[in-house]
Amino acid sequence: MTVILRTVAEVRAWRRALPAGQALGFVPTMGALHAGHISLMELAKGRAAATIASIFVNPLQFGPKEDLAKYPRPIEQDLALLERAGVDALFLPEVSALYPEGASTFVVEEDVSGPMCGAVRPGHFRGVTTVVLKLFNIVQPDLAVFGQKDAQQCAVIERMVRDLALPVEIMRGPIVREPDGLALSSRNIYLSPEDRAAAPLIYESLQAARTAFEGGERQAAMIAAIGRKVMATDARFTLQYWDVRDPMTLEALTTIPAGAGALFAVAAHLGPTRLIDNITV
Ligand code: PAF
Repeated sequence: MTVILRTVAEVRAWRRALPAGQALGFVPTMGALHAGHISLMELAKGRAAATIASIFVNPLQFGPKEDLAKYPRPIEQDLALLERAGVDALFLPEVSALYPEGASTFVVEEDVSGPMCGAVRPGHFRGVTTVVLKLFNIVQPDLAVFGQKDAQQCAVIERMVRDLALPVEIMRGPIVREPDGLALSSRNIYLSPEDRAAAPLIYESLQAARTAFEGGERQAAMIAAIGRKVMATDARFTLQYWDVRDPMTLEALTTIPAGAGALFAVAAHLGPTRLIDNITV
């Protein structure tokens, strides 16, 4: 039975009642849960005796022209999935519980949040770091699990945890994909049938780049050109970035160093839907 906790006080009371020394695993989400989220819950359950998820569509991380109002909120369906996954508790706050009237304190990470999504979604990561720190303060988890699909979000949160000496272990859960390669995302439900059929091109571009890397290519510009060329085969995509970066610092790479990995990361609009994806090689 998943207990629903709606206020900060309810979460604190639930947390205090856990047996001393029992590790708590946390999966923060914005809801519209899918198999990718459930895989994060499974990871948390594998590492912690008690698990809690949160569902909060965080207004602070949406830009003025983004999809805050229409972001999917299928709460009954989400609850059923959490029950089935055996998650012990759900924190389901109102906006006012996390942002009291006149809230004026924010968390800003100033390095890894700069490029990629940070460059095209100003203020987005300020919203993410602010809400995640609040959630950590309220839930006080021992470990928290985030999806690798949002690779930059993982890097930003890991940097915040390190810089602010937060007592939380961050785990990354692997990307879960549809059989045709499309990375699972709550936003996939926005895709029209035609866009849904086209969407796997993003993963195909990543795979083409991986093939080049495995064939010995180490020049980032060559690898990105291969990925961008695949994306250009369908004019309905508007590419925001197709980048080759250091997986932890997100610095743009010129050459992929011998023995070191790289992150290949893409963001593109397909019709009204913004999709992101990545692989690490
Ligand atoms: O990845 C998400 O769903 C959100 O960015 C998060 C981490 C729950 C913060 O609102």
